[in-house]
Amino acid sequence: MTDKIIRSGIAGSGYAARFHYDALQRLYSVKVKITGAYSPTSQRLKLFTEERHLKAFSNLESLIDESDVIHVCTPPSAHEPIVIEALKQNKHVIVEKPLTGYFGDDSDNFNGDTFPREKGLEQALSSVKRMIGAEKKSRGKIMYAENWIYAPAVIKESDILRKTKAQILWMHGEESHSGSHSLNYGQWKFSGGGSMIGKGCHPLTAALYFKQVEGKARDGKPVRPAAVSARTHAVTRMPGYMDEGHLRTTYKDIEDFAAIHIIFEDGTFADIFASELVLGGVHNWIEVNTNNHRTICNISPNDAMQSYTPDEKHFKDVYTVEKTETKQGWSSVSPDESWFTGYQHEMEAFYRSAAFGEAVESNSSLAADAIATIYAGYLSAERKGSEVPVTLL
Ligand SMILES: NC(=O)c1ccc[n+]([C@@H]2O[C@H](COP(=O)([O-])OP(=O)(O)OC[C@H]3O[C@@H](n4cnc5c(N)ncnc54)[C@H](O)[C@@H]3O)[C@@H](O)[C@H]2O)c1
Repeated sequence: MTDKIIRSGIAGSGYAARFHYDALQRLYSVKVKITGAYSPTSQRLKLFTEERHLKAFSNLESLIDESDVIHVCTPPSAHEPIVIEALKQNKHVIVEKPLTGYFGDDSDNFNGDTFPREKGLEQALSSVKRMIGAEKKSRGKIMYAENWIYAPAVIKESDILRKTKAQILWMHGEESHSGSHSLNYGQWKFSGGGSMIGKGCHPLTAALYFKQVEGKARDGKPVRPAAVSARTHAVTRMPGYMDEGHLRTTYKDIEDFAAIHIIFEDGTFADIFASELVLGGVHNWIEVNTNNHRTICNISPNDAMQSYTPDEKHFKDVYTVEKTETKQGWSSVSPDESWFTGYQHEMEAFYRSAAFGEAVESNSSLAADAIATIYAGYLSAERKGSEVPVTLL
């Protein structure tokens, strides 16, 4: 424990801001003072800050000024300007996923379904380069809040890979549920895409990370992505979709299903699924098949706890697991969901880095590989699955 107190500022007052705040309450090796929060939605900001006895900032500049670390918990379209502004002031930034992307051209007729994907890829990579350029000039660091990298199951598998010196032959993984709560999600101009970037980024980045760990453990250098083939679909917007009311259907111009096949430099591969079309709660997992072991990381649901009730009225006040439609019958209750998802572990790692200068595993380089892979995936989907090379920055 250091006596130094690190000041944290939260940009945003929605879902991610709430779990960042909660994770900050569980830090154990660094002392933190939350300076306050800023978001342009004043009503939500008031609610968020009053409930937590935090200062509500009226602008981002003063939040940055009074903080050492800025949490970027805003829609993806707002990540880049906030990150660059904070880095200019030599502050660290903890940026939510996805790092950045392509959000259109500000015109009223921009349409996420139809814009040329080649342009999306080029612009998303330019955005990454600007952010990494700002990081290079700053004393602050980009800490990429990809919680899967810090989920205990992923940390444990990384340890197994280091100890066994295994070669990963193939992986498959998924993040799916019945639809995001955020209204910004659904409009490409805010989210930079649909299921592939919004959900697929999690298992995809874990797969990229495992190949990095493997390569570093054996040869001292990461194995990185080389090419992708992908398909996307907008099922809930199909004219023939039969809505039974269980899935969100209000997407404007994004896909609600994505499948992406990633080929790594060494010829091995990973298959990632992401969708808004899965009932029964969040379905987050990754399976690693290697030449000396096989691991299934069940992030959610897992069988740490299972509970049965004949009538969900008994569970009226009980939180069971994220996004489940019903609590009746058997539930895979997560006894500490944020622990299994890695939220507190990522904050611990980031604040140790801010306090003691430790390197972070989920850094701008991993985030850049994820964005390069995803936007190459969008280009491949436009070409109905043809292979597209991944541009490594
Ligand atoms: N890691 C995870 O498990 C996870 C889960 C959900 C969301 N996220 C990510 O968190 C980020 C936020 O998503 P959310 O679900 O909290 O969205 P949300 O819509 O619930 O909240 C977004 C907040 O950002 C604020 N905002 C918008 N523009 C801003 C700006 N320029 N400056 C400051 N605040 C601004 C809004 O007022 C709102 O308070 C996204 O990048 C999303 O992908 C991550």
